[in-house]
Amino acid sequence: MAKRIEFAANGGPEVLKYVDFTLRQPADNEVLVANKAIGINYIDTYVRSGLYPTPSLPSGLGTEAAGIVEKVGAGVTHINVGDRVVYAQSPLGAYSDYHCVAADKVAKLPDAISFEQAAASFLKGLTVYYLLHMTYQVKPGETILFHAAAGGVGKIACQWAKALGVKLIGTVGSAEKAAQAKRDGAWATINYQEEDIAKRVSELTNGEKVNVVYDSVGKSTWLASLDCLRPHGLMVSFGNASGPVTGVDLGILNQKGGLYVTRPSLGNYITTKKLLQHAANELFSMIASGAINVDVAPAQQFSLKDAVRAHQALESRVTSGSSLLIP
Ligand SMILES: NC(=O)c1ccc[n+]([C@@H]2O[C@H](COP(=O)([O-])OP(=O)(O)OC[C@H]3O[C@@H](n4cnc5c(N)ncnc54)[C@H](OP(=O)(O)O)[C@@H]3O)[C@@H](O)[C@H]2O)c1
Repeated sequence: MAKRIEFAANGGPEVLKYVDFTLRQPADNEVLVANKAIGINYIDTYVRSGLYPTPSLPSGLGTEAAGIVEKVGAGVTHINVGDRVVYAQSPLGAYSDYHCVAADKVAKLPDAISFEQAAASFLKGLTVYYLLHMTYQVKPGETILFHAAAGGVGKIACQWAKALGVKLIGTVGSAEKAAQAKRDGAWATINYQEEDIAKRVSELTNGEKVNVVYDSVGKSTWLASLDCLRPHGLMVSFGNASGPVTGVDLGILNQKGGLYVTRPSLGNYITTKKLLQHAANELFSMIASGAINVDVAPAQQFSLKDAVRAHQALESRVTSGSSLLIP
């Protein structure tokens, strides 16, 4: 019998249960993947808690994994049984031994990329790709502010920014995470538990501030982020780790310099098979060349049945970089 993680009610990590489930056949446009490594993403905690409602309950969880194609639907021509693949935009249910995914959402893995590297980097790396290249095109020598720089997305952002010659100022929650972000290529770090973010950004940029802030922390950093922007700067609010930003009076954008705000997601940037392939190639070549390291510490590789513990670790802010579930 196949196993997966399911939850029947929204709540804390303890609602996650390791259960038997009946495998279904892939539809004509789908492939069935035997997962070998599963990506854990902060968004999974929003789905579990109910911040992002599910279509129905009980529900599976997770949208990202890497593995081997076990079956292909009748209409699939570009993926074959036995292919090594990764996906990040599946329906909920990737926390599982097996998962059916639309073939257009799947990328073939180069030999140089392991299942663990792929599952640790695909959703987060595609996110960094669209943030740095599509939401705002960063330029060599430019200084940017990126929050939670030692987290899963943040670790990839530090390395990718460095490779592009961008000076990334990364916020972090501890001295250890500051050291980690520096090792990953952050130009400077700010410990937002102890330091004033806007004051430090102003000091680090000789009063010039930055053209773009990438903020996935949400509620607790929103105002400080706006204060780090130059006139007409862009606030990219792309997550809610501290809670969602709500009730914004648009007048504040005028008061702080005619600012722009966007609230993007992977789903509204990586929209076609062609774009997915292009972004995946960019990411894989960064990893294969050694410019981006996405190896996951053994302490952050959890057995699939230990999803409760994995979510507790992620939400208590003790993790740095990516975490995995291993079926
Ligand atoms: N919109 C998109 O397309 C998209 C795609 C992927 C991810 N995201 C967002 O990007 C963010 C990072 O995702 P991830 O999976 O890589 O997670 P992560 O960064 O590994 O974990 C979240 C981090 O947020 C920081 N944080 C700040 N305040 C927090 C609080 N009150 N509670 C918990 N954590 C807090 C913590 O780092 P410190 O201890 O250093 O503060 C924590 O490690 C999430 O907000 C996620 O939703 C958005």
